[in-house]
Amino acid sequence: MTNPLPGIPGLAEAVCLMNEAERRNPGPWHAHSIFVARAAELIASHHPNLDPSTAYILGYLHDIGRREGVTDLRHTLDGYRYLSGLGFPGAARICRTHSFPVKHVLAGSGQWDCSPEEVNGVQKFLDGVEYTDYDRLIQLCDALALPTGFCPVEKRLLDVALRRGVNAYSVEKWQAFIKIREDFDRAIGRPVYSLLPGVVENTFGFDPAGF
Ligand SMILES: [Fe+2]
Repeated sequence: MTNPLPGIPGLAEAVCLMNEAERRNPGPWHAHSIFVARAAELIASHHPNLDPSTAYILGYLHDIGRREGVTDLRHTLDGYRYLSGLGFPGAARICRTHSFPVKHVLAGSGQWDCSPEEVNGVQKFLDGVEYTDYDRLIQLCDALALPTGFCPVEKRLLDVALRRGVNAYSVEKWQAFIKIREDFDRAIGRPVYSLLPGVVENTFGFDPAGF
């Protein structure tokens, strides 16, 4: 097992930070974050190079920039600045990388509600960054966790495309997500979906109480 990333809060502190963030900006993003954390922990527990506790905390905190209010891609920057300011660069990094399986600002999952200078700064960061298995893990888990539970990446990508449209980077982004999922399938020796409780029910709307 590789060493956990430096600069990550413990679980108790992460819970305090997230509870405060949810008080500031209540919304489904909090439930989504808990499912991202659970997926990350489950996948990491079967992965040779990842620590499950570290994965949980990184997944849990990846959207903490939403504490600043209802924003779009600005939340990646806000989260990075907030956690960096608290002295947690390892967790802060994930806030910036999780929306960019493709390293281009126009391939992000959303619209830019930042200044041109800020967007340029993000592109510079993306140009220089080397993604770790943790970066890739949280990118994947973000794409398979809804606020109500787990679903296949492909379903989530289509859902986002139908709601928000597509651009010149969409196909490249979809291919990147599918490759990340396939890489993790191989690394853990089984489909990642086989680790996610409720994925079938959440995807196909099966309600056992209805039978
Ligand atoms: Fe997310």
